[in-house]
Amino acid sequence: MRTLTVALPGREYDILIQRGLLSQAGDRIRAVLPRAQKLAVVTDSNVKPLYGDMVLSSLAAAGFDCRLFPVPPGEESKNPYQLTALWEGFLDFGLTRTDGVVALGGGVVGDLAGFAAATVLRGVAFVQIPTTLLAQVDSSVGGKVAVDLDAGKNLAGAFHQPRLVLMDPDALDTLSLPVFMDGMAEVLKYGCIRDGAFFDFLTARPDREALTADIEHILYTCCDIKRQVVAEDELDTGARMVLNFGHTLGHAYELAGGYVEWTHGQAVAAGMCMAAKLGVALGVTPANVPGRIEAACACLGLPTSIPCTPEEYAAAIGLDKKGAGADITVILLDGIGRAVPCKLPKAGLLQQLEALL
Ligand SMILES: NC(=O)c1ccc[n+]([C@@H]2O[C@H](COP(=O)([O-])OP(=O)(O)OC[C@H]3O[C@@H](n4cnc5c(N)ncnc54)[C@H](O)[C@@H]3O)[C@@H](O)[C@H]2O)c1
Ligand SMILES: [Zn+2]
Repeated sequence: MRTLTVALPGREYDILIQRGLLSQAGDRIRAVLPRAQKLAVVTDSNVKPLYGDMVLSSLAAAGFDCRLFPVPPGEESKNPYQLTALWEGFLDFGLTRTDGVVALGGGVVGDLAGFAAATVLRGVAFVQIPTTLLAQVDSSVGGKVAVDLDAGKNLAGAFHQPRLVLMDPDALDTLSLPVFMDGMAEVLKYGCIRDGAFFDFLTARPDREALTADIEHILYTCCDIKRQVVAEDELDTGARMVLNFGHTLGHAYELAGGYVEWTHGQAVAAGMCMAAKLGVALGVTPANVPGRIEAACACLGLPTSIPCTPEEYAAAIGLDKKGAGADITVILLDGIGRAVPCKLPKAGLLQQLEALL
């Protein structure tokens, strides 16, 4: 068992990483929620037949009264209507303020269930059991929970830290290759921003099989980086910004493809490659860095560039939550493993991007 503690004063919690952990969920959750009687388990209809019974029987064996709340798979479920349906369902189930909500699934389920837990009865305890690589290395740690609105993604949400995060690497075995590689884009990101040796470790494992053989180390390293960044900046007002490496430009690619052509991980991969080139053009990034990131992405079948017009870049920069006023902060690298936030005028950034098209 590998354990990491997210040290937030008054809201400290553990991340447990172990093969086979899903079948021990009951005892692990009982240890952090000794008084809870009921657990509402939110999942999606892909994950339910794979792991629903295993988790439910473990929770029942630990004395919990549980009910599964399956939602349809995919981003479309992260909306205010599903949120309302969960609130109503939890109350129908008889959930009280001493009970809890469990998210069993990918980032969609985690964000939706977490926001439902943050808001029902003014907030109940929440446990994350992430089952995608992206959810294990990224969305289950840090306490950001949200639903999407017509105006954009994640626009209604909260910070609601989980009481516990249970990661079972075996659950990743059933992921499709594209979903696995989508998560790998975020894994590479951690190497790029904080840990050059980890980046080298990843590039020495160029396929899913080799990565899976060392998956516990990979999960541990990513979560360790994320928890440090989160502990420095719980409410995302400064240091947490480095996690956006590849994301500002990735957002442009997601927009360019209407959010259907490119997955988030693909857009982030191309965004990291472009941010590296941008860094070279701005004199921040050493000249060999773009090639190294491109090679790492290409090896995993992730795109190294995505067609995008200046207008799409402009739209992404203008709407980006990370931008403030006429300036925007982009995350660049002054080497693999070292992220540096750079503030520059939006117009100047657009000019640089156009020159790189
Ligand atoms: N809260 C945060 O800090 C944060 C950070 C990053 C991303 N996110 C959010 O995460 C979401 C994306 O998460 P995701 O990539 O996990 O997508 P997802 O939850 O849609 O899961 C991807 C697909 O994998 C399936 N699946 C899940 N676990 C499986 C398993 N073990 N075996 C087989 N299939 C499985 C799901 O049913 C789904 O079809 C986005 O909504 C994004 O905004 C949140
Ligand atoms: Zn991301």
